[in-house]
Amino acid sequence: MVHSFYLPTRLYFGTGARQKLAGFVGAQDRVIVITDEGLVKSGTAGKIEEVLAGTGARWEIFSEIQPNPRAATVENALEAARRFEATAVIALGGGSPMDVAKVVSVLLTNGGRLEEYQWEGKPFAVPGVPLYAVPTTAGTGSEVTQVAVIIDRNTKKGINSERLLPTAAFIDPELMITLPPFVTAITGMDALTHAVEALAARGSNPVTDAWAVEAIRLLGQSLRRAFAVGDDLKARESVALASTLAGAAMDQAGLGIVHALAGPLCSYYDIPHGLANAVLLPWGMEYNLVAVPEKYACVASLLGRKAGGDVRTEAKEAVGAVRQLLQDLELPGDLAAYLQQEEDIPRFAREAAAMFIARANPRPVTPAACEAILRKVFLKG
Ligand SMILES: [Fe+2]
Repeated sequence: MVHSFYLPTRLYFGTGARQKLAGFVGAQDRVIVITDEGLVKSGTAGKIEEVLAGTGARWEIFSEIQPNPRAATVENALEAARRFEATAVIALGGGSPMDVAKVVSVLLTNGGRLEEYQWEGKPFAVPGVPLYAVPTTAGTGSEVTQVAVIIDRNTKKGINSERLLPTAAFIDPELMITLPPFVTAITGMDALTHAVEALAARGSNPVTDAWAVEAIRLLGQSLRRAFAVGDDLKARESVALASTLAGAAMDQAGLGIVHALAGPLCSYYDIPHGLANAVLLPWGMEYNLVAVPEKYACVASLLGRKAGGDVRTEAKEAVGAVRQLLQDLELPGDLAAYLQQEEDIPRFAREAAAMFIARANPRPVTPAACEAILRKVFLKG
């Protein structure tokens, strides 16, 4: 069997990695920094401006990015980039600014409207302008994925192209030390979900497994500490690296039932992506347990559970380890507070089962399986 692994994005990681951005931006450049208002107010955007100031480049900040970005936001960001005649794009933030920036970078050179690519499947014929990704959360892994997820027509619809992979990514834990504990917890659980789903996915291969395994090990070792002691740079560095490793693994191996279920939940109820995944992960693992016990036995040991018993018993330990982690990160065990009407549950289940990412799940994702999980997380039964 022939496998492949492709990652053209140059990675810089470690404390102060953002300074390496100066080697990519020249005095002739006009850089649009796509970010959100919170990162401007917290001074994080200012840290990137300090680096840009030393390059002689001109730059403009576009900070109107909301969580779970919509097509209209992409249009606004693109218009700002065109008006500024941007020659390069910096994506600064979590998954939302990152995904918008990725799409802006390719639309600047390919022209046309987002929907032609998102809905009609038109390929990006030429590379985008240089795109530099600077993640400020350790969760999405979007800096190493060829996907951008934008909500349009009330659907979280991914746009998939190798041309969305950034030119370079700068994974700097110094930009993450002010992340509040809750955000650290849910973004870290998103990264863990990427790694666990990638490890069990139908598209997994020995290279993606290696990246996923190391991501799970690092998260098991450091996520609690990053949550509890936010300014522990060493813990932040481990979690940040884990997020990137998990991102590349899931991009190439695929995801599964947890992310499929999170799709409609986040589109219709605006539940933060990481929180939805965090709550759904143990339930999704329980569903898959019978299909991939060896993989989950591996997860159990990576999360620090002592081996013992047969493989099925060890695999179950993985589910217990994730539930324990959720508790330690002070995350809820259900999403009951978000349910608007019970009639939504079968509809969400049907939509989740039909999602493209569900196809990579080790077990077929049926509407009935999705509905059973959603009843547990929304109705606690
Ligand atoms: Fe995710």
